[in-house]
Amino acid sequence: MPEDYEKISPTAVLVAFMRARYTDMPYAREIYSAARQMTKPYFFKKTPLIFPRLARFAPSTMGRLAYLEGRYLSLNEAINTLDDSYTVIEIASGLSARGLERMSKPSVYIETDLPDMLATKQKVIQKILAEKSAAPSPNHYFYALNALDPNAWEQLGHTFFDGNKGNIAVIHEGLAQYLAAEEKVKLRDNIARFFDRYAAKGVWITTDFFPYKKIRKTWILKLIDRRIEKKTGRKYHQFATLEEILKFLEQGGFKASLQDCSFIFDRLTCVGKVPLDKARVQEVLRIYKICTAIYAQNRRDS
Ligand SMILES: C[S@@+](CC[C@H](N)C(=O)[O-])C[C@H]1O[C@@H](n2cnc3c(N)ncnc32)[C@H](O)[C@@H]1O
Repeated sequence: MPEDYEKISPTAVLVAFMRARYTDMPYAREIYSAARQMTKPYFFKKTPLIFPRLARFAPSTMGRLAYLEGRYLSLNEAINTLDDSYTVIEIASGLSARGLERMSKPSVYIETDLPDMLATKQKVIQKILAEKSAAPSPNHYFYALNALDPNAWEQLGHTFFDGNKGNIAVIHEGLAQYLAAEEKVKLRDNIARFFDRYAAKGVWITTDFFPYKKIRKTWILKLIDRRIEKKTGRKYHQFATLEEILKFLEQGGFKASLQDCSFIFDRLTCVGKVPLDKARVQEVLRIYKICTAIYAQNRRDS
């Protein structure tokens, strides 16, 4: 039976709302305001509203904001270390500003998501560019991709790289927690197969893998998570330990390293906007990781 991944898409709107309201992240307000005007009403009906409501009454519990902003910034830092020969493919890009931020870069950037979400994103970006009288970048592409569908990856490869292996980085943030263990395996194997066929060098970079066992959750966060699980029809699944993450990646043919996100603390804008507990934020950033997994060809067969 096909999985209803579209039910996860409204979480992108929730994330955009959080960024616009509680951070000074680039384009956050423009993106959210454009999305509000052009998203089909059902998107907003399905958007879990408990987070914003609770934030009004309990702002100091909003440590997750630091995670939202920190994951965006640290993923940017990681891809900025790649040279311009790398094509960056962002999966599940939602309403993130990364495509807009990278417009002036010479490297190719392909943002992908499920078809409805991607169409919305494309309209949002067009509107923002039109308002700024800015031309779209010839290196910025939009491509509908269900990251769990091997045929969709094959089509993507065929469209952009056929007969021409390139250096490729696949990146994502905020997707893997909605995928069950066996779906994470599918995602991993889709990326590995894609690198096998289309990449001279392939690297998978994500902030979605961290040792979940170490995360302390307040009752409010637990409530929010239950609510999001209900809305998306998905049970959160995370790796419990670092060892589990490394084993999962090794089994897929990847050699991974994980760095904590604390280096990003000084750049978080949410800390100045919401009365967050700074020590707690630093503690949390030490648990969240940026995972860089290099695809080592034929590792699985050796
Ligand atoms: C929490 S949002 C994160 C969006 C974005 N990465 C960000 O941080 O703002 C989750 C995203 O995953 C996308 N998604 C869910 N299932 C997917 C799938 N099977 N393939 C590709 N994208 C998917 C949703 O459409 C949504 O945009």
